[in-house]
Amino acid sequence: MKCRVCREPAVIDIRRHNANFCSEHFLRLCRDQVAKAIKDFDMVQPGDRLLVAVSGGKDSLAVWDILRELGYEADGLYIGLGIGGYSDESGRMTKAFAEQRGWPLQVIDLREDFDYDVPTAAKVTKRVPCSACGLSKRHLFDQAAVDGGYDAVVTGHNLDDEAAVLFGNTLRWQTEYLARQLPVLPARNGFPRKVKPLVRLGEREMAAYCVLRGIDYIVEECPMAAGNKHLGYKDALNTIEAQSPGSKQAFYFGFLDRAVARFADGASDGSDDSGLGTCRSCGSPSSGEICAFCVLVERSAGAQPVVLTVKGSS
Ligand code: AMP
Ligand code: FES
Ligand code: ZN
Ligand code: ZN
Repeated sequence: MKCRVCREPAVIDIRRHNANFCSEHFLRLCRDQVAKAIKDFDMVQPGDRLLVAVSGGKDSLAVWDILRELGYEADGLYIGLGIGGYSDESGRMTKAFAEQRGWPLQVIDLREDFDYDVPTAAKVTKRVPCSACGLSKRHLFDQAAVDGGYDAVVTGHNLDDEAAVLFGNTLRWQTEYLARQLPVLPARNGFPRKVKPLVRLGEREMAAYCVLRGIDYIVEECPMAAGNKHLGYKDALNTIEAQSPGSKQAFYFGFLDRAVARFADGASDGSDDSGLGTCRSCGSPSSGEICAFCVLVERSAGAQPVVLTVKGSS
């Protein structure tokens, strides 16, 4: 197995590109793919200040590393979700990563700063954990970006993530979600721009990137994700990909090239927030008097904390 570029021994094969790469040229490929995604989708303008949402997982640590390598001004934001030992460990890894490099990292802790955590909020509001988790993260990413004067929020969603979400939305023809499933969402109505620079790279490549760059990341998955639909869609797509390399990329980029615009009708810019006001409690854009995040906090703060004993159980 030889590197496609230099013919030296290769360390990784990428079947959908039908090519092998040595360490140096694989790392270069990752940077080039991020640069291409940024350019093709007009994600970032020169001089933009970026806020990278980092979870301690391979994708978000890698995207932060790559953006800095490409010369962007990118700071980190970590949210302690209070999901037992998983959150403790991911927080440790994220902080160590930022400290070793001397890169600015803002830390928000749901328990310390808002007196709740994801397992408790899920129980009190009878939501599935991912729903309470997603709502909290989205709100805090947006607010931190606006308060900090950042031009865009960056997340580590990769090709596997986006293809799996697309698969789920397509199976149920969730047209409003399909209209908004883009690698860049422009700033609007007080919400910051959101960008996903890893859409051209897969999960396996991001793991390899971290290993080759010596980045220590949390390998464990969120214990509350066990058995969720998203993981099932990923497995299904991996089965198809194994038979037919390139399927995920064709599915997702074919959607962007040939289908997504068809769903834009009726969803206008993909959202119906023309009548947005501001939340009376936190000042964020909100359709109600109080935003969904503040309602969640009001209901969950001070509730008897749910203690995660065995991984994932309560
Ligand atoms: P997930 O929804 O867990 O797949 O995460 C998707 C992206 O959201 C990650 O790549 C990160 O950019 C961001 N993210 C997830 N969890 C956190 C967290 N606890 N703190 C900050 N960013 C996060
Ligand atoms: Fe949904 Fe962790 S709460 S993946
Ligand atoms: Zn090479
Ligand atoms: Zn609010």
